[in-house]
Amino acid sequence: MDREKVQIFDTTLRDGEQVPGCKLDTGQKLIIANRLDQMGVDIIEAGFPVSSPGDFLSVVEISKIVKNAIVCGLTRAVKNDIDVAAQALKYAKRPRIHTGIGTSDSHIIYKLNTTRKDIIERAKYAVSYAKSFVEDVEFYAEDAGRTDNEFLAKVCEEAIKSGATVLNIPDTTGYCLPEEYGAKIKYLKENVKGIDNVILSCHCHNDLGMATANSIAGAVHGARQIECTINGVGERAGNTALEEVVMIFKQHPYLNLYTDINSKQLSEMSRLVSESMGMMVQPNKAIVGANAFAHSSGIHQDGVIKNRSTYEIMDPLDVGVNESSIVLTARSGRAALAYRAKKVGYELTKVQLDIVYVEFLKFADIKKEVVNDDIHQIIECCKIQSEL
Ligand code: KIV
Ligand code: ZN
Repeated sequence: MDREKVQIFDTTLRDGEQVPGCKLDTGQKLIIANRLDQMGVDIIEAGFPVSSPGDFLSVVEISKIVKNAIVCGLTRAVKNDIDVAAQALKYAKRPRIHTGIGTSDSHIIYKLNTTRKDIIERAKYAVSYAKSFVEDVEFYAEDAGRTDNEFLAKVCEEAIKSGATVLNIPDTTGYCLPEEYGAKIKYLKENVKGIDNVILSCHCHNDLGMATANSIAGAVHGARQIECTINGVGERAGNTALEEVVMIFKQHPYLNLYTDINSKQLSEMSRLVSESMGMMVQPNKAIVGANAFAHSSGIHQDGVIKNRSTYEIMDPLDVGVNESSIVLTARSGRAALAYRAKKVGYELTKVQLDIVYVEFLKFADIKKEVVNDDIHQIIECCKIQSEL
């Protein structure tokens, strides 16, 4: 079976930037958009142009500089939103309008105070109106995760008839389980007329920590676009993390799915977004966290020193990290200490190692992490006491 490509739709600059306190200015957005383009992202969602003059300007400027990716602007299913988005995207080489409306009963009753029939009419109007400006129109069925499949299929079918090229199935509230979300995509694949002529897209939020798992389940069942953000930033608990999706496809080739992302740029991209937004990446964050390739317990360190594959499933170089690290703590064993001592210039015999290890443990019980300077100090002290 031939491998199939999953398009990466990055929404760091739109859904990601909705995070309180993470506002980016146009200059910062241009730097990030340019790097996303170079890294191989297929679609950059540059903003929600009607939301503010600043966001409008950012979409205009990003449209001018992006060379390869499709540049996308978000709208509600509202005429003025679509007019403004079309205007903002007019310099884009490959523009896309992303329009849509809530389809779950909760959204229809409480947010929009209307009926299912009206939702279908508004969806049809929005897609065909957007289509009068651009060829590429993506339709989102907001809160599709909690929308019953039969109604969702009906809305999707009408969106296709009205000219949608991509159908986005957001789990807006991060409610679904992977099996459920995968089954939803499968249901749409099997029950919507014309579905094979459009791309199905996963847009999953992380309220239950399922965003990446749900997106992968969607792709396994036929979705060929995943919407995600760098470091998983986004509303509430965030969106699917781009770096996780990319590495999952890379590390599991039997899925026969791939992306065009240059994974060696992931680490640097993560740092850029984190610093620009002033939003720290948690140290245990998969792929890009400071501890993602750090080993600190004695048993793990011993294994990794003997053979990396014992405790590492990825080559750190593949994500742009030079090497994995052996962190020396009070949980480290002799193997790790000997390894580090050798790196800083001391070849210890077994007897010497036993002596230094005793001093090392005393030190490590006080200090959280023992660094190279500490190793020098410990060994030199042992020498002075003529123990070595
Ligand atoms: O989460 C969501 O439903 C969205 C849409 C606006 C695409 O971000
Ligand atoms: Zn979202």
